[in-house]
Formats: sequence, structure tokens, C-alpha cells
Amino acid sequence: MGVLLIGSGGREHALVYAFSRSQAAGDIYCTPGNGGIAELATCVDLDVTDHRSVIGFCENNNVELVVVGPELPLVDGLVDSLEAKGIKAFGPTKAAAQLEGSKAFTKQLCSKYNIPTADYEVFDEAQGAQNYLNDCSYPIVIKADGLAAGKGVVIADDQAQAQQAVQDCFDGRFGEAGTSIVIEECLVGEEASFFAICDGEYAMELPTAQDHKCAYDGDIGPNTGGMGAYSPAPIMTDEMCQRTMSEIIMPTLRGMKADGMPFKGVLFAGLMITSKGPELIEYNVRFGDPECQVLMSRLRSDLLPVMLASSNGGLDRLVNEFDDRPAVTVVMASNGYPGAYESGSEIKGLEEAAGDADIMIFHAGTKIEDGRVLASGGRVLNITALGETVLQARDKAYAAIEKIDWPQGFYRKDIGWRAVAREQETI
Ligand code: AMP
Ligand code: GLY
Repeated sequence: MGVLLIGSGGREHALVYAFSRSQAAGDIYCTPGNGGIAELATCVDLDVTDHRSVIGFCENNNVELVVVGPELPLVDGLVDSLEAKGIKAFGPTKAAAQLEGSKAFTKQLCSKYNIPTADYEVFDEAQGAQNYLNDCSYPIVIKADGLAAGKGVVIADDQAQAQQAVQDCFDGRFGEAGTSIVIEECLVGEEASFFAICDGEYAMELPTAQDHKCAYDGDIGPNTGGMGAYSPAPIMTDEMCQRTMSEIIMPTLRGMKADGMPFKGVLFAGLMITSKGPELIEYNVRFGDPECQVLMSRLRSDLLPVMLASSNGGLDRLVNEFDDRPAVTVVMASNGYPGAYESGSEIKGLEEAAGDADIMIFHAGTKIEDGRVLASGGRVLNITALGETVLQARDKAYAAIEKIDWPQGFYRKDIGWRAVAREQETI
């Protein structure tokens, strides 16, 4: 089957890696792709906001399945446009993508179907929100309703900070995304990422993961897209996974279907494990990045039939298989990220670093020029390793990084610290 993948990050390189190992794969295309993806797929330059050009490409190149990596084209309705032309797509429709595209939508769904989440109020004008801040307890969480590239959430320790955050939103800091806001209770606990591939009715559970959002060691510094991840997340015991499925994922699927927006694609629940159990922080309607990198490095079964069944139905007849060993991925980013950074520096030593079968290097912001690998983005590489333990996987990833010669990059040295601390307690 011909496949077109949309995206350019480490998540997409990991997906292409899975497709390249699929029995079902024919030609694999990716737009726009990156330096690593170009080794496994044909990279093409399409304007994904122009749905007709994507449809035309699929028709001319026998593409049978389009897999959408990032959220923007989903929220923009690309899947609807493709399906209207009979082209299968992995991902939700525009209506179902509201689970990520509007935080207020998701909170209202949670209320309607009794899904555990933080108590909240939605406001679409500043005065009501500011009045509400007079009587709430702190810390409190202020969120722009729409897509804000992960920057639309402020945890305010006191009323002054909260007032500022509300003001920033309604002053247009997040554009359209901030014309409405959610103010919610601050949940206390440990976070985990939970994934299920869905066909509108059935949910296939995938392994869990945990990511590291802060830029620097010790979970300090500015928020990023994610500086590393590992899978599985030890906090997600079998009981917690079962509860997440029965209390969060399945009621969501049933509710979305009942409301006329059946959810297909991958449902990624950002969870807080509180003293009461799993609570939903937010939904994403795509794989996490860098969580996808650790999931794909553990995947042993064929992903493409599962993705096709997510679109066609019949997912309940398929199984998935993952390596029991944990995986760790460490992100190497350009110095300065998530602020300003320079592009164009050369990265050397990647072949030596990837010399072991348990090491996978997924590219994010790279490009190849005259056979040289150059940095071309904020997050640049994902050094991913499997090991018997998280500690061993992490040591392998860091040993591989030692072989990479790229002075213009940096990485966190403590990825997986929670899981490693737990492992050491049990020794
Ligand atoms: P979100 O974009 O909704 O995932 O929020 C980004 C991050 O903010 C989450 O990963 C959490 O670390 C934090 N966060 C969001 N909502 C809450 C909440 N209600 N309580 C505590 N932390 C939160
Ligand atoms: N790593 C978190 C995300 O992809 O949203």
C-alpha cells in the first residue's frame, strides 16, 4: 500500500521507521520530511493547507493511506477532505479533532460523560474571568482554549499572576486560540502519557510513556515540546491502565460517537495520577513527540494494518505486540532552544553512534546537504535506546550521544530520573 505521511519531526521519523518494517508498505512518501526521513521515504514538498494539492498527489501516486503526524492539519479538516475523495486517512475528522483543538470542548465532554478531570470554568470575556479569580484558591491553571503550540497554559501561584495570564490571553497573545479561556483546578500527582488507537468504537491500548517538558535538568527552565521520554511509565500499573481505559478512554469514545463525532486515529490522554486515580489533563489527537519515538522503538507488530483498520473499522480483530524492554529517548536540541537558536551547524558521528541494534537515532530538525547532516530546527535529534531496565536503556542512549560531535547542541542528562529512582529502590 502506498502511504503518505505528513510532518517533519522525530515523531514522523519514528513512524516512517515503523512503516519501513511493515509487510504492507509499498511506496512511502513524506511531506515535508527531514534529513533522517529522507533515507527511508521519498520526501515531497506539498502545501498541506491546500487540501486539493494533497488529494492530487495521492491520486497521482497511488497513495492509499495518508497518516497525519501533527495536530494542525487535523484541526484544519484535512482528513475530512481526503475522505470525501475516497482516500483513507489515519486521524480524526475536524469535528473529532476538537478534543485537542478546543480545551473547552473537551472539558464540556468530560462533564457530560462523567470523565474525571480538574474542576473548571470557561470564560469568553476578561471581566467574568477576573471576577472569578477573586474567590478561587491558588495555585490555579489558566489555559487558552485553542491550539497555542504548548505555550497556552499558565500555572498561577497567586491572584496577580492569574490576572496577568487572563489579561495576556484576552489581549491576543495567543491570537484566536485565546478568545476563550479555561480556568481550572491545579491537580497534584505524577503525569503520564496514555495512547489508544481508535476506530470510532473500539480502542486498542498502546504502552504508556512519560515525557520531560522542561528544558533543563531537574525539571527546571522553560517549557519545551519535550526533551526526552521513556516507555513504559512505571506509575501506570495494570490497574491504572485499566481504570484509564474504563473511566476515561471508553466513555470518551462512546460520548463522541453518541454526539455524532466518532473518534478515529490515536487518542493521546495527558493524565495526572492523583490520590483519586487517573484524571484527564488534556487530550491530543495525534502521537506525542517524543513519546512516539519510544513507542515505535518498542513496536514489534505491523503498524500499517492497524492504522488502516482505525480508518475502516475492525480494529478489534487485530493485535499489537511490543518489546517488553523499556526504551528511553534523549532529545538533542540546538543551543538556545526553546528560545532563539542558530541553524546550519554540522552534526558528525551519527553512524558510529547508531552502531548497536538497540540504538535508533530519529531525526527532527535536520537536513542533508552534500552528504552532510545539518541542524535545521530547535529539537534536532532523538537518541533512542532499548535496555533491560530504564537505567540500562538510558546509559546506552547517553553512550551513543558521547559519539556524536555537535558542539552547537545540548541535551538533558537526567532523562528517566523518576523511573531510574524507582528501579533503584527495588534493588
Ligand atoms: P496541557 O497543554 O493542557 O497539557 O498543559 C501543559 C502542562 O501544564 C501539563 O503537561 C501539566 O504539566 C500542566 N497542567 C495543565 N493542566 C494542569 C492542571 N489542571 N493541574 C496541574 N497541572 C496542569
Ligand atoms: N510530548 C508532548 C506532546 O507531544 O504534546
